[in-house]
Amino acid sequence: MTTTRRVAVIVGSLRKDSLNRKLAKALAAQAPAALSLEIVEIGALPLYNQDNDATPPPPSVAFKKSIEAADAVLFVTPEYNRSVPGVLKNAIDVGSRPYGKSAWNGKPGAVVSVSPGAIGAFGANHQLRQSLVFLNVPALPHEAYIGGAGKLFDDKGALTSDDTREFLKKFLHLFEKWIEANAAPRA
Ligand SMILES: Cc1cc2nc3c(=O)[nH]c(=O)nc-3n(C[C@H](O)[C@H](O)[C@H](O)COP(=O)(O)O)c2cc1C
Repeated sequence: MTTTRRVAVIVGSLRKDSLNRKLAKALAAQAPAALSLEIVEIGALPLYNQDNDATPPPPSVAFKKSIEAADAVLFVTPEYNRSVPGVLKNAIDVGSRPYGKSAWNGKPGAVVSVSPGAIGAFGANHQLRQSLVFLNVPALPHEAYIGGAGKLFDDKGALTSDDTREFLKKFLHLFEKWIEANAAPRA
């Protein structure tokens, strides 16, 4: 019997018309049957403050629980000034503390970076990977830089490019195999 793997999707943009959110939704819509992709919101998280480690704010506690409940994590992020947006870094920090109680520890992960620019937010993608190494998140080595993203969606937010759809399908298939190879054993 195959059990569906739960994938927490973290979108690194809070913008209403975010290209990254559209891409995350496109990924969720075409996920293989063995994966269930669900966006975990990060916009209401308070800024991480180490003084609150003993009694973290309720939204931070809830966020950590959502990550802990997932089998894997998928980051879909824009690039801000050649790095990851502060909101995403904050979510990573919130999930990582208190020390020794990181929600990310051991979860297989994957990174997709999305930009209207030509190089597909390469810089953010790789800066994020650097944090994932420290957090013991085994990250899918396959690269997903989605450039020219301003032209990939129709006015309803649906993906218009068959090539991109095919690319995402292959990426998800690789991620599914990666999760099976790296996730905690099924209960
Ligand atoms: C503060 C800021 C910094 C940005 N820096 C970069 C950058 O370094 N590289 C890049 O490709 N795009 C950069 N952009 C443009 C974003 O890629 C673009 O706004 C994109 O649509 C953001 O993703 P979203 O549509 O999911 O919100 C930047 C945008 C903002 C607001």
